Amino acid sequence: MPIDLKLSGKVAIITGGSKGLGAESARLLAADGARVALVSRTKATLDTFATELTQAHKAEVMTIAADLSQPGSAEPVAEAVLKRFGRIDILINSAGAAQGGVFWEIPEKVWEDGFALKFFGTVRMTRAVLPAMIAQGYGRIVHVVGDTGKQPNPRLLPGATANAALLALTKGLADEVGPRGIAVNAVNPGPTRTDRIATLFANLSKSTNKSLDEIEAGFMKDAALGTIGDPADVARVIVFLASDAAANITGTSILSDGGRSRAIS
Ligand SMILES: NC(=O)c1ccc[n+]([C@@H]2O[C@H](COP(=O)([O-])OP(=O)(O)OC[C@H]3O[C@@H](n4cnc5c(N)ncnc54)[C@H](OP(=O)(O)O)[C@@H]3O)[C@@H](O)[C@H]2O)c1
Repeated sequence: MPIDLKLSGKVAIITGGSKGLGAESARLLAADGARVALVSRTKATLDTFATELTQAHKAEVMTIAADLSQPGSAEPVAEAVLKRFGRIDILINSAGAAQGGVFWEIPEKVWEDGFALKFFGTVRMTRAVLPAMIAQGYGRIVHVVGDTGKQPNPRLLPGATANAALLALTKGLADEVGPRGIAVNAVNPGPTRTDRIATLFANLSKSTNKSLDEIEAGFMKDAALGTIGDPADVARVIVFLASDAAANITGTSILSDGGRSRAIS
């Protein structure tokens, strides 16, 4: 029997849904018949992407501009989606970015900004959708976290520590909401070719006086598969966890890193 993701008609909110891993996940969800709500700060980028999805897949798409690093930003998103689609089945938390550097040179503001979006943005958005999911007795939440949560890179500690916190959230919240029919999982991408990684490599190249090629090679030297990830490959793991094909999985994380992490997981 073929694997049925059972995504047709499901309502999915995707934060960071205009670009990168969020956008790739939205493409797959829309192609499979889900109704999608795309969230990011920039309305024009969201609307351009929504038009692409509607034309390619005849998908029902709505866009919501929100800065999820701000308190109070998530509830209006959930309210708007409930008003338009009447339910929320899936939440993919993919908005996030944190700067790195040498630990003793990283200003407090960089730590605050990294946690404000990646950690608190995820907490906020998850908290905002849970009442609807609990009322339905169904929900699938996927946090896009990162391989540094388990294998911290010393030059990327604001993001790595936020990632570790998100993995704890994933496990603990899964225990809390599992009996109510809601699964919570995470995907830990390794370096994957999106705008975010391009910026990160450019910054590291500048701060270390190494070429971009050297930076990339340094990141991937331990990866069994050897290449920087393709966003579509990571998105397939995200969407799998968001689907009923993963019905018996909760409270865990899946690496998509080309074999880069040294830990057994
Ligand atoms: N790419 C990688 O190699 C990699 C590796 C490990 C983990 N990750 C994690 O995967 C997630 C997605 O990364 P990506 O590479 O797809 O990033 P990306 O291509 O830079 O996309 C980031 C998305 O988040 C949105 N966003 C940024 N700030 C926001 C805010 N304050 N409020 C709401 N939305 C915001 C962006 O749109 P606007 O700018 O218009 O708001 C965009 O849609 C991040 O959490 C990242 O840490 C990525």
